[in-house]
Amino acid sequence: MVNTNSPIGFFDSGVGGTSIWKEVVTRLPKEHTIYLSDSENAPYGEKSKEQIIALCKKNTEFLLQKNCKIIVVACNTATTNAIDFLRNNYDIPFIGIEPAIKPAALNTKTKKIAILATKGTLNSTLFEKTSSIINKDIEVQETTGKGLVELIEDGKLNSKEMTSLLSSYLKPMVANNIDSLVLGCTHYPYLIPQIKKIIGKRYK
Ligand code: DGL
Repeated sequence: MVNTNSPIGFFDSGVGGTSIWKEVVTRLPKEHTIYLSDSENAPYGEKSKEQIIALCKKNTEFLLQKNCKIIVVACNTATTNAIDFLRNNYDIPFIGIEPAIKPAALNTKTKKIAILATKGTLNSTLFEKTSSIINKDIEVQETTGKGLVELIEDGKLNSKEMTSLLSSYLKPMVANNIDSLVLGCTHYPYLIPQIKKIIGKRYK
């Protein structure tokens, strides 16, 4: 039986969702948690919506077997493609993670913001819906971070490969005078030190 002492379940395609998990355990230290890293199927970002839904279903069923009372979909790609399906098909609360473009749009001075996310997130209907409510005079520069999740999963966070791939994504944003960069993938907060080295500390 699920009760208040049951665990909170988390899942992601890999280590990225631990960026969310660690915030939750810091704030709710008495909660039991289970973190499912579906590394076998990473990355999710290049998969179709149907494939992502099928993987989310499998992850959810695993966590339900572990008696979880709530599931945190600690992945933007999974949330933007599958959260409606999950909420419609399982009788348990789901918490999703979406790219924070709204706060970035509210705070921009240059009226230019950028988002780095997976192809699956940027192409999703949910992301399109969220972006459509952003003020039309704000330019949102969308960039697919292809290859970043794979390098993180391979432990190449501080590699030359990472610096050159990240630079290729970030330099055009700087050239376009953006003042806010939205990290639309839960893996990317682990890149913040690298990002700061490339674009400077003034960005939020
Ligand atoms: N952490 C996932 C996200 O937030 C990574 C997606 C992937 O596996 O490509 O989007």
